[in-house]
Parts: sequence; C-alpha cells; structure tokens
Amino acid sequence: MENKRLKVAVLGCGSVGSQVVRLLMEQADDLTARVGAPVELVGVAVRRLDAQRDVDVPAELLTTDAAGLVARDDVDPVIEVIGGIEPARSLILSALGNGASVVTANKALLAEDGPTLFEAAAKAERDLYYEAAVAGAIPILRPLRESLAGDKVTRVLGIVNGTTNFIPDKMDSSGAGFSEALEEARTRATPRPTRPPTSRASTRRPRPRSGASLAFHSRVTASDVYREGISEVTAADVQSARDMDSVVKLLAICELRDDQWPCACTPR
Ligand SMILES: NC(=O)c1ccc[n+]([C@@H]2O[C@H](COP(=O)([O-])OP(=O)(O)OC[C@H]3O[C@@H](n4cnc5c(N)ncnc54)[C@H](OP(=O)(O)O)[C@@H]3O)[C@@H](O)[C@H]2O)c1
Repeated sequence: MENKRLKVAVLGCGSVGSQVVRLLMEQADDLTARVGAPVELVGVAVRRLDAQRDVDVPAELLTTDAAGLVARDDVDPVIEVIGGIEPARSLILSALGNGASVVTANKALLAEDGPTLFEAAAKAERDLYYEAAVAGAIPILRPLRESLAGDKVTRVLGIVNGTTNFIPDKMDSSGAGFSEALEEARTRATPRPTRPPTSRASTRRPRPRSGASLAFHSRVTASDVYREGISEVTAADVQSARDMDSVVKLLAICELRDDQWPCACTPR
C-alpha cells in the first residue's frame, strides 16, 4: 500500500524559496525514496504572479492566496520562506491549526515570537522545524533537542553569522580596516543587508538564544543576551592578535555557570 502522499506547500519563492521549489521539483523521486512516501509540490504562494524567478514554477502551482493555500485540508507540510513577521506568523499559526507541520527559515519571526509558534505546534501536536534559521549549515538544534536532551550541557559557542565572520576574516587576511571589510561584506551578501552586519546582526537573531534555550532547557530572551560587536575592532587590533598567533572572531557564547545549575532561567 502506498504511504500517505506528502503534499508540500511553499510560502514564498524568493532567494530561498526558489531553491526549495527547485529541489522539490528536481529531486522529487529521490525525496520520495528517502522519505518513504510520495512527495508532491502542490502550491507556491507569492506576492506577484508575474515576477522573474530563479526557477520555472508551473503556472498552476503559483498563487497569491497564501491564506487559502495553508487552509487546504490536504496540505502537509507547509514550508514558510516569506520572511518577516506578518503575514508569516499568521500563516504558520493557521497551518499548524489546520493540522500541517511547518518548516520555517524565518529568523526574524523566531526571534520576535518563537514561543507563540512553539506553543501552537505543541497544542496542535504538529512539528515545527526551523533548523535552517539557526546556523543553517550546521546540524545543531536536533542534536541539542534529541541526542543531548538527557545530558548536562554547560557551554555552547560558535560563529553564527557568515557576514559578521567575513569582516574580521577579511581584516585578518588583507589588512583591511573595518569599514572597507564591511563594504565588501555588504556587496557579497545575498540578499544585500539593509543595516550594517555588526554585533546586533548576530544577537538579534534567534541563533544564540535558540541554542541556549535548548541546551539549558530554558527560555532565553533577547534581554538576557549581552551584546558586544565588532564595529570598534581596528586593523591594529587584528594585527595585535596576529602577533599573538591568534585571530579576532565574533562568537555567540552561552554558558551555564556552576552556581546556576539546576538552571535558574525561566522553564519552557
Ligand atoms: N536569503 C538568505 O540567504 C537566507 C538564509 C537563511 C534564511 N533566510 C530566511 O529565509 C526567508 C526568506 O528569505 P529570502 O531571502 O528568500 O526572501 P525574499 O527573496 O525576499 O523572498 C520572499 C518571498 O516571499 C514572497 N512574499 C512576500 N510577501 C508575501 C505575501 N504576503 N504572500 C505570499 N508571498 C509573499 C515574495 O513574493 P514575490 O517574489 O512575488 O515578491 C518572495 O517570493 C527569511 O525568513 C530569511 O530570514 C534567508
């Protein structure tokens, strides 16, 4: 007997969504084999039907009615790659309420209102995956959530933003000053950032907080995070680090001190 067909709806077809759609169309057979059930793209919600796209989406799959798409009772899962707070939040909540699991890459929304989404997913008994929004290329959330769930994790640290990592790296390799490296980072970033990718780019996003929340079984909010950026780092600082056989990096660090175990944070 054929397993239940996965009817995938994708919300958004921009930089990320177009590649998700492309993979879903090009690798449908491979995905079907790996998932163990037929995977079918059934709709792609966009703002403009006539926009140029990096992928040829069959016209019958494109719609501007994202709310109608997530309300369909045969759609599951829903992939949200619109970005921003609204309508992404309402669409995700609606999808979960209608019984679909959701995958989102929405850093801004997770940072702004992650707990509302997690609670809705728990209440609906549906999955909410957001691995791509937190250190996307590094599988960190699932190991924290599942493999290490019974362990006492005391420290999580890492480079969590490619653009902010590029800047000190460029300063180190070329001797460039901060402004020069920032300008090149801006030119290379996709999409072009609308504000300087300095300290806050890392700390506003959900990555350090998601890591801390999962590692310490707690809810860590933006106000719990101490922020210090790289905008004051000079070429001379980078050279001084070099002289000590070191490099300057912007790290997100969450650490549980001995006097805070069992964790004193707000339980999830
Ligand atoms: N870009 C990256 O490198 C990257 C990396 C990791 C995570 N992300 C996250 O991925 C998400 C998407 O980013 P992106 O760069 O792909 O954004 P994007 O290029 O701006 O694409 C946004 C898409 O959403 C559609 N859209 C906007 N409002 C809509 C609405 N009301 N109803 C239906 N569709 C709507 C747009 O439609 P039109 O095309 O018709 O305008 C567009 O296709 C964001 O949450 C971002 O943080 C991005």
